[in-house]
Amino acid sequence: MHDLEDIDTIGVVGAGTMGSGIAQVAATNGYDVVMRDVETEYVENGFDTIDDSLDRFVSKEKLSESAAEATLDRITGTTALDDLADCDVVVEAAVENMDVKQDIFADLDAVVPDDVVLATNTSTLSITTIASATDREDEVVGLHFMNPVPVMKGVEVVVGEKTTDEVVAFAHDLAEDLGKETWESDDKPGFVTNRILMPWINEGIRAYDEGVASKEDIDTGMKLGTNVPMGPLELADHIGLDICLDASRTLHEELGDRYKPAYLLKRKVDAGDLGKKTGEGFYTY
Ligand code: 3HC
Repeated sequence: MHDLEDIDTIGVVGAGTMGSGIAQVAATNGYDVVMRDVETEYVENGFDTIDDSLDRFVSKEKLSESAAEATLDRITGTTALDDLADCDVVVEAAVENMDVKQDIFADLDAVVPDDVVLATNTSTLSITTIASATDREDEVVGLHFMNPVPVMKGVEVVVGEKTTDEVVAFAHDLAEDLGKETWESDDKPGFVTNRILMPWINEGIRAYDEGVASKEDIDTGMKLGTNVPMGPLELADHIGLDICLDASRTLHEELGDRYKPAYLLKRKVDAGDLGKKTGEGFYTY
């Protein structure tokens, strides 16, 4: 049985945008967190991202200084996967590469006790394939957080072929205990969100490339016309164009031509213009 009452410490694999966000949200909600990445520098960057985000909450008076400090105190950084041995649940948020994720899951399977749920934050890869690297396929589940994790309200729970109903229920409970609302998707490429979001983004890029409108008008049109907070080009920059391309390629491979990435998306990524994070994407930052 997996019960929230037994969960004190959450392990997070990956201290990038998503991993650090998950660590922050877990710690703010009272859990001890062990945040692991492969290099000390990445772990430090993760703490910087958390610091910035906590500062924003404090300056908006959404969090007290003491709660921000307590959040930081609850997070331990490490580069050793073995340090996750005492975690009561682990959420993986490493790079979107199946081989890397399978290696991590095989290692986690060896390190953490048999009854610990292993969740993956993958955006498009198969939960079932990731789980097949372990001997606990029934305890592997998708917990797909949205970027920026500390602000976005939703988490997608993704059900692998072997994931038990009990583990699925636990995943919903855990996400809700982190202050999120959930929905559920079967383990099909892109799940609900990215299956629908990525074609939307790619169509925005194609519309721009084909001269339908300026990038500003495409983003404004979608914002004012459909009440979304960001248009497709802004949102692509926000997510990271490399991440959009990887996700689009997975969808294309699995679901065929209607998911073909836009040519301009590929050209931008090849040029190193990855959006907000490099200062240059469809917009300049
Ligand atoms: N930490 C803390 N607070 C933050 C923050 C962070 N990382 N980022 C933004 N905020 C706060 C701001 O301080 C601000 O607070 P306020 O309401 O009290 O003023 C509020 O969030 C809004 O931020 P801004 O005023 O700076 O800017 P916006 O109004 O443009 O909001 C946004 C930013 C929240 C990112 C909003 O534009 C948005 O919701 N955009 C859509 C994001 C989205 O769709 N994310 C999902 C992407 S898909 C995904 O992640 C799946 C993956 O698999 C690809």
